[in-house]
Formats: sequence, structure tokens, C-alpha cells
Amino acid sequence: MQTLEIKDFIKTKQDSKSHTEEEINFFIKNLSQFTQDEITEWLKAVKRNGMDDKETTSLTLAMANSGTVLSWEGLEPTIDKHSTGGIGDKVTLLFAPLIAAYGINVPKLSGRSLGFSGGTIDKLESISGFKTNLSTEQIKEQVKKIGLAICSASTELAPADKKLYFIRDVTDTVDSIPLIASSIMSKKIAGGSKNIILDVKFGSGAFMKTLKEAQALARKMVTIGKNLNKNTKAVISDMNQPLGYAVGNTLEIKEVLEVLSGKEIKDLIEIVICLAKEAIAGANLKPQEGNLESKLREILLHGKALKKFEEMISAQGGNLKSIFNPEKKAKYIESLKSNCEGYIQNIDALLIGEVVHELGAGRKSVSDQIDHSVGILFHKKHGDKVVKDEPILEIHAKCKEDAEFAKRKLSSALKFGQNEPGKLKLVHEIVR
Ligand code: URA
Repeated sequence: MQTLEIKDFIKTKQDSKSHTEEEINFFIKNLSQFTQDEITEWLKAVKRNGMDDKETTSLTLAMANSGTVLSWEGLEPTIDKHSTGGIGDKVTLLFAPLIAAYGINVPKLSGRSLGFSGGTIDKLESISGFKTNLSTEQIKEQVKKIGLAICSASTELAPADKKLYFIRDVTDTVDSIPLIASSIMSKKIAGGSKNIILDVKFGSGAFMKTLKEAQALARKMVTIGKNLNKNTKAVISDMNQPLGYAVGNTLEIKEVLEVLSGKEIKDLIEIVICLAKEAIAGANLKPQEGNLESKLREILLHGKALKKFEEMISAQGGNLKSIFNPEKKAKYIESLKSNCEGYIQNIDALLIGEVVHELGAGRKSVSDQIDHSVGILFHKKHGDKVVKDEPILEIHAKCKEDAEFAKRKLSSALKFGQNEPGKLKLVHEIVR
């Protein structure tokens, strides 16, 4: 009986027909009873034939309901954020304290590094003592006190998505807009916030390689969010060069502190302010007096967000000063110098991500230990002029061999030209 039903379920999608909500609920509820081959057949049919908005919404809700669905009653409004991942993407670490310092609660559940892109939890674990495993009660207590907590998402959150993702990862079925959209949104729905802002990145250092793919994903996720009664918006942003100047865990925390202390790092500040503005406007709150953007810039760059960040680090047991300890620095630091004079026309973000991963900042399997000290610190970025022998970046490695390997790979990540290139546009579209 069960086998017949799963066969029928698979056939519906193979025949390019739509599933009902009941069928999708049945599939997700009984996931553990189906074989990997059966699930794979269905995933392949979805990858080939797609799913409409109604089916994708049903799948999202069914996966969210497969585990704990959090509630922030008494703490609302709360804002949740998600990034589809990029290189040097430390945006959550600026966005969350900014929003909390503005006065809106942020109970933020984050992830670890995935493939070539880094993870917020790994970055925070560069800070000695910082606890990332908080119970729901601890998150609530902390958010009540200081308006902010960033911690790891529990395994109880959307477990059906974890099971499906595990199979997708080994069966070439990750790459499907409805499957990606429902996977991401199931975790956001289970995360419980009423307001969701999505940073959907495209380009060489992003999951979505083209603007068109990013638009399709963003639209699908915003539609799902709205169908499920969440204020959802997406900002589509460029990831063709790393964000900011630092890539690698400790280096990125240091850059976060620099911005929170007033350093004008243009691309980072632009995306953080844009996401914050959209999230606050989307939450339909009574606007505070004055221009929102100027107010946010003031909070971000002139101490209030820094204070919030410090409060969070100390509430979660971290010693922020520890990141400046000599033993947190990479053992071997080597500069890459320009071999010509000209303008930087392109920095291949994917290659940068891969090199930093190889240096030890990312994992090859979930159980791998990462090295928080390694990474790349840029001195120059897209559009900057360099003269011959001028240092372009620093490689932070654990040994000379790793640094030499990185240096060889990095030479092809940078393209130079004699003409000043046009500015790279960062924010391309806002999907509301
Ligand atoms: N990230 C997710 O959480 N799910 C996907 O399917 C892809 C990226």
C-alpha cells in the first residue's frame, strides 16, 4: 500500500503534474519509510519538471513542521535574516547588532561553513569562550535582556530538510529553484520570526551564478514567505568579488569590529544598510523620527551597534579581546605583490573562497576541525590602481607551503588592465 502510494507520488511529478498539499504532507511525514532511491527519483522529477508556488509553499511548511517551530511571543517584532552565502560575507555580524541597537529583537539562528562559503557560527567561534549552542529558553532570556542572540540552529529545526538535503547533495539534485527555496524557507519558517529579510547573492562567489537565477530564487522565496504570512523581502546583490577586505574567520571578526568602530568599508556598509532599511520598513513598525538611512549609519558606525555586539559576545561567554591575542594570528603571513601596473579589473570570488577553504578555513566533511586564523586580507579591490611590486593582498596560512600554494592559485584570481573599470553595482534589485 505504502509502496504503491510513493510510486504514485513519484509518477505525478514525473508526469509533470502538480501535487496536492495532502500528498506533500504525506511524503514529508513518511520520509523515513521511503528508500533513498525512491526519494531520489522524486527529487530528479522535481529538478526536471519544477513545482508551482502552491506546491513549493506546501513543501516548505511540511518541512518546517517536521521539527520544532519556534515562537517569539512576547519578543515580537523580531527580524530574521538569511544569506544564500558568499565570500567574506560577514553581513549578519553587522546587521544583527544594528537592528538590535535600533530597537528590534534579533533571535538569529545561523549555520557553519558550507562548501566554499563561510558560516557565521564559525566566524563567531574565533572568539575564545563564545558559546554558540543555546537552548531556546536561553535565547529568549538573552533577547529579552539585550535584544540579540546569534547561535547555531538546533538539529530539531526542519529535520526533513536535513534528510532531503543530504540526499540532494549526493544525487546532483541540489540545483533546483523550488528545492532550494523550500529548503531555505523551511528553516526560516521554523525559526519563528514574523519578519524575514533575504540576501540573495549572485556571481562567481555565490551559489547562484547569474542575476536571472538569483531573481528566480528570490521571487520564489518571497512568494513562499508571503503565502505563509511572513513579511518577506529579498535583496539581490553582487558576489563577483569578496565583500569587504577580509576573508577567513578571525580576520572577518576583526573587520566587523573595524566597521562597528567607524571604518568606512563601502560595499559592506551599503549592503548592511540596505538590508536593515528594507527589513525595518517590511516589519511595518511606526517609523522613528528622522531619516532612516542616516539613523542606521549613525548606529552602525558610531558606537551603538558596537556596544550591542559587545553585549552579545559577553552574554554568550566570549572574550572579544582574545581575537587580538598573538596565538590567534596565522603562523605564516605572506604578501602577494602586483607584477604590473594597472587597474584591478576582476577578482574571482569563487577562487578566493576555494583558496581560503584550502588554507583550512572551511570543512571538507562536517566533522573536520577548521583553522580560524587562516585567510586572505586584501589591500586593494576591484577598480583600484596598483603599481608594480605593490602588495595587493596578504595570505594568512599555517605554513610556508600552504602560503606558496595559495600564492600560485591566486595569481589567476586577479585580472589587471590599463583602463579604469566601471564601478561594480552591488545591489541589483529588491523583491518585495
Ligand atoms: N542552502 C540551503 O539551506 N538549502 C539549499 O537547498 C541550498 C542552499
